[in-house]
Amino acid sequence: MIIRQAPDLHGSEITPRSAYVSRRGLMVGALALAALPSTVRRAEAALPNVAKSPFVLDDKRTPLEDITHYNNFYEFGMDKDQPAKRAPGRLRTRPWTVRVEGECGKPGTFDVDDFIRRSALEERVYRHRCVEAWSMVIPWVGVPLGPVLQRFDPNSRARFVAFQTLFDPQQMPEESSRLIYPWPYTEGLRIDEAMNPLAFLAVGLYGDILAPQNGAPIRLVTPWKYGFKSIKSIVSIRFVEQQPPTLWNTVAPSEYGFYSNVNPTVDHPRWSQAKERRIGEFFRRPTLMFNGYGEQVAGLYTGMDLKKYF
Ligand code: MTE
Repeated sequence: MIIRQAPDLHGSEITPRSAYVSRRGLMVGALALAALPSTVRRAEAALPNVAKSPFVLDDKRTPLEDITHYNNFYEFGMDKDQPAKRAPGRLRTRPWTVRVEGECGKPGTFDVDDFIRRSALEERVYRHRCVEAWSMVIPWVGVPLGPVLQRFDPNSRARFVAFQTLFDPQQMPEESSRLIYPWPYTEGLRIDEAMNPLAFLAVGLYGDILAPQNGAPIRLVTPWKYGFKSIKSIVSIRFVEQQPPTLWNTVAPSEYGFYSNVNPTVDHPRWSQAKERRIGEFFRRPTLMFNGYGEQVAGLYTGMDLKKYF
C-alpha cells in the first residue's frame, strides 16, 4: 500500500473455483480436518443456515477466484498473489479464540467455531474499496458487529474499539521483521461506528468459511471505509477510552487517517481517489462518497471536517 500501487491482475493468478472448493460438505468437519492440506479442508467448508439480509447489492459479484487470489495481507507478503500462495497451510485457523476486554462489564473469550454454531449467520453483499483505488463486490457471511460487542457490556468509558490480528511470526512470516511495520496489524473504530448496523464480522464468503488469505477465521468488514480498516484474522477486541493506534496510521499518518472513510474528494497524497478500477472491468468507475453507504453512515460524521478527519 505504501510502497507499491496495485499491479494488474494476471490470468495466471486465477485458480478455477472447482479446483479447490465445493459446497457439498458441511462446516462440522472443519475442526477435525484442520490438519489436512487446505485444498482438502476447503471442500468441507460450507456454512450452514445462512440467511439473506437486506444488505445485498445489485452489482455483479466479483468471482470467488479474484476475491481469493488478489489480496492484501501483508503478514504474508506485499504482492497481491502472495497471501493465496503462503497463507493456506501456514495459518492455523482452528481452533481459534478471540479475547474481548477493556472497558466492559463482561470481558471474555469466544471460540470461533462455537460462535459460528450459535450465531444467526447472514449473507451481505458489500462493495469493497481499497485505498489503492481498486474495488470488488463481495458476498460475505457473518454477523453484525454491534450485537456481538453488546454481549460484553461496554461501559461509558468505551469510546473506541481496538482490534488486533494474530502475532505469530511462525505462521505469519513477514511478522518476523518489524523494520517497516509495527506488527501485529491493528485497527480501530469509534464505538458508534462499531455499533453501526453496517459494521460486520465476517466468517465466510460465497457461503463457505473464509479462506486463510481473506482473513480466516474471523475478520472485520466496514464497507464505507477503505479496505485496510477491515482487519483480518482477529484475536483481540478491546474497548478503550482513547483513540487507539492503528498500523497504517502509525506508519504513514499523512497518508492513512484514523477514519479512512471512502471519500472521492480527498485524494491520497500520491494518487487520486476520484475513480476506481472494479476488478474484472476495463473502464474506471467513479468512486462514491462513503462507498455508496452515505444513507447509513453519513450521520456518524455530522459537523466533522472530513478533509481534516480523513
Ligand atoms: N488485515 C491484516 N491483518 N493485514 C493486512 O495486510 N490488509 C488490509 C485489510 N486487512 C490487511 C488486513 C487491506 S489493505 C485490504 S484492501 C483488505 O484487508 C483486503 O482484503 P481482501 O484481501 O480480503 O480483499
